[in-house]
Amino acid sequence: MIGEIHQILIGLHIFLAIIWVGGILFIGWGVFPAVKAMKPNEQRLFLHTLMLRTHWIFTLAGAGVIITGFLLGTVVGPITHISDIFRFAYGISWFIAFLIGLITLAWGIFVGYNQTMKVLSEDSLWFSAENGDALPLNKAMVKITCLESVEVIGFIVILICMVLLR
Ligand code: HEM
Repeated sequence: MIGEIHQILIGLHIFLAIIWVGGILFIGWGVFPAVKAMKPNEQRLFLHTLMLRTHWIFTLAGAGVIITGFLLGTVVGPITHISDIFRFAYGISWFIAFLIGLITLAWGIFVGYNQTMKVLSEDSLWFSAENGDALPLNKAMVKITCLESVEVIGFIVILICMVLLR
């Protein structure tokens, strides 16, 4: 029975991780660069709608990854007591993945999303871009890219932990 629950949890864990990591990377590396070909006002409307519609999906998927990862390591995994975390390599990798997962998710919600919505709501940036001065908007976009890179670094650290769990 535990074996079946373990398999279902692994399947769910991987599926949610694909949505969370894949979704964020697709928006950052696919949608954001493609949007630059649009006029500033079109960019603004499109990005605003995209953020509002996708933000909650990625937040839920990220929370699901962390919850299933927690259960995989504890309820159906080898960590039965808090002291197990520091007793063997599996526990340390699991703990780092758990911690970095929480930080990465919180960063996405409170820093990445908030900063993007702030830039999208600053009229002056978009008006000057419409009137030919795109420098302030470009600077704001570079700042968003840098802040989003923190999430990518989080994903890389978690992936290393996943490999070390084997
Ligand atoms: C970037 C997000 C994540 C990705 C892409 C990911 C990916 C994976 C994959 C592919 C596996 C299956 C490994 C295998 O059986 O061959 C796995 C297992 C596992 N993951 Fe994650 N994971 C992520 C986040 C997390 C987090 C945040 C935690 C901790 C809370 C976690 C804990 C675990 C555990 C405990 C297992 C089971 C390992 C075992 O077989 O004992 N994962 N993960």
